[in-house]
Amino acid sequence: METMSETRKPVILSGIQPSGILTVGHLAGALNNWVKLQETFHCYYMIANMHAITVKQSPAELRQRTLETAALFLAVGIDPERSLLFIQSQVPEHSQLAWVLSSMTGFGELSRMTQFKDKSEKHPENINAGLFTYPILMASDILLYQADAVPVGEDQKQHLELTRNLAQRFNYYYSDTFKIPEPYIPNVGSRIMSLQEPTKKMSKSDENQNSLIFLNDSNEVIINKIKRSVTDSEAEVKFDETNKPGISNLMTLYHLATNATFDEIEKEFSGKGYGDFKLAVGHAVAEWLSPVREKYNTIIKDKKRLQSILIYGAEEAHKVAFRTLDKVYKKVGFIRF
Ligand code: TRP
Repeated sequence: METMSETRKPVILSGIQPSGILTVGHLAGALNNWVKLQETFHCYYMIANMHAITVKQSPAELRQRTLETAALFLAVGIDPERSLLFIQSQVPEHSQLAWVLSSMTGFGELSRMTQFKDKSEKHPENINAGLFTYPILMASDILLYQADAVPVGEDQKQHLELTRNLAQRFNYYYSDTFKIPEPYIPNVGSRIMSLQEPTKKMSKSDENQNSLIFLNDSNEVIINKIKRSVTDSEAEVKFDETNKPGISNLMTLYHLATNATFDEIEKEFSGKGYGDFKLAVGHAVAEWLSPVREKYNTIIKDKKRLQSILIYGAEEAHKVAFRTLDKVYKKVGFIRF
């Protein structure tokens, strides 16, 4: 763990909400990258269960999903000996810092967040204050650990920009306290699209289950979903995201599963129909995901081990978070005896 500043490895923090079973999109876009980052960074990987309740959750399901998400992190290769894996709600400093930062955040600033606007439109019956202040909690997640870099997708960049602004504002007003985090844009990483509407990103909140490949889908389910995926009316396996988004998406999946380049894939399937191609993609993806699923099944059964990893993660995270919060409280003038 971090000690002297000379030996301090740069810090990464990222999080995923436990609001559904993770999909192959998370693996391709985020998790594979998180695993690699462990080689060069000191990583904090968080299950953002406090963010999750900004949309209505069933308590039993939320509990279950939280553990499932943790088990999947481990199954894909997050190594608890190197990285800290923890549940957001188990480290009280997150909401404590969020309160302080919320007094330094403009109403107008939050009103401009596109995710808030999108989500309010999607859930007009539940536009709650948590949904509005969500980016402040996210800023706290990041700033508590003095993160150098934050791997985030396109949809979270605006929140990271706000985080940087808040950090700078606090530092300017009170004196240097927070590290200003950079977005981490991986040079590899792939966006996986919905199998049914391939111009839209694969999203676990999609209501059509046939759009998604879950990381714990059986081989048979994976093969069937890919068989039924939406393509186009041509018969040419060619990478062209604009005109052939469905086929391009399947090519990306095939590439991820087999390492074959797009050129190689085009050659392999030239003259063959989409039926053959889909079958090959289905089998390749099934083969790619089945070891993840097997590991996941073992990990999720051993609740004791899972719990102890999460408790350790939260305790260690708390130590670091407390140091930052303590400085913040002192600087803003909260009395301490
Ligand atoms: N808001 C992020 C998402 O929905 C999850 C998240 C919460 C996060 N806290 C974070 C991501 C801190 C990066 C850093 O994807």
